[in-house]
Amino acid sequence: MKIILLYGGRSEEHDVSILSAYSVLNAIYYNYYQVQLVFISKEGQWVKGPILTEKPESKDILKLTWSEDGEIDKWGEFTGKVIQPCDIQEEDAIVFPVLHGPNGEDGTIQGFLETIGMPYVGAGVLASANAMDKIMTKYLLQTAGIPQVPYVPVLKSNWKENPKKVFEQCEGSLIYPVFVKPANMGSSVGISKAENREELQNALEEAYRYDSRAIVEQGIEAREIEVAILGNEDVRTTQPGEIVKDVEFYDYNSKYIDNQITMQIPAEVPDEVHQKAQEYAKKAYTILDGSGLSRCDFFLTSKNELFLNELNTMPGFTQFSMYPLLWENMGLKYSDLIEELIQLALN
Ligand code: DAL
Ligand code: MG
Repeated sequence: MKIILLYGGRSEEHDVSILSAYSVLNAIYYNYYQVQLVFISKEGQWVKGPILTEKPESKDILKLTWSEDGEIDKWGEFTGKVIQPCDIQEEDAIVFPVLHGPNGEDGTIQGFLETIGMPYVGAGVLASANAMDKIMTKYLLQTAGIPQVPYVPVLKSNWKENPKKVFEQCEGSLIYPVFVKPANMGSSVGISKAENREELQNALEEAYRYDSRAIVEQGIEAREIEVAILGNEDVRTTQPGEIVKDVEFYDYNSKYIDNQITMQIPAEVPDEVHQKAQEYAKKAYTILDGSGLSRCDFFLTSKNELFLNELNTMPGFTQFSMYPLLWENMGLKYSDLIEELIQLALN
């Protein structure tokens, strides 16, 4: 069977996707599968690359160079070809969209794959769209009675129309510091902390660079713990892991550039927190219509109060990422995890 590995993508998490894709390429069972590489450039071109029948020798296999006329020059030793997205359609193949963020993880690619009738790994249209949009996630979790930190959704149009009202709404229900986030984004891109009105204004302007929908959230002193979820109807969860902080706020640089993340797996938390985290993760996954996989992120206060922060339907997927490591801790190794995801997509 052929796996069509879609990677890169138009979102700000393009480079994260390349890291995830390389780890997947190294772990696929090549005795069962061959892998067709399809790269999506930041500008949105789809480029068909080589078919791999064995582990690549180096990361260079994922690198493309473009000649001056915008044609693909080289893809490792191979010459790539710009294609139309629907050209990936073929029999006896499954798509693995290792794409993070908008235009990859938000239901758009998933809808396209549904339209052309290709099976694919991971969440469907509804769950992808629900989980990508932080405002929709909050609304759905609220109806399910899952605890969350206080928040105020702020649409760009409302902000432009009446900034004073937005300040009053935020200050009426939240206490500084607050975190301002674009509703549709990942890897902390566009997120900033605000300690006062002026910073709130700057933070909102920054968030609107990425999305016309933003959310202002109560900042709290808390640990960050995460649970991995796997399955369709039959949903399994892992023990929680903890992101051990050595910086105040994990922005994009500390996550991917400075490698400042330390993970504690399993997290050292009381049994009841562990069970609650699994219960909320499962409940959230079900209400958002999850399938395939997700990573569920929580805040945990010193009083052991647990607040669900978000679900990621295509979490960071390198061998060193929390999602696969949480499964490894449960005895499921990275290659077998990929195999399970493929089987879940085919069933
Ligand atoms: N959005 C990044 C990839 C994550 O959730 O891990
Ligand atoms: Mg997160």
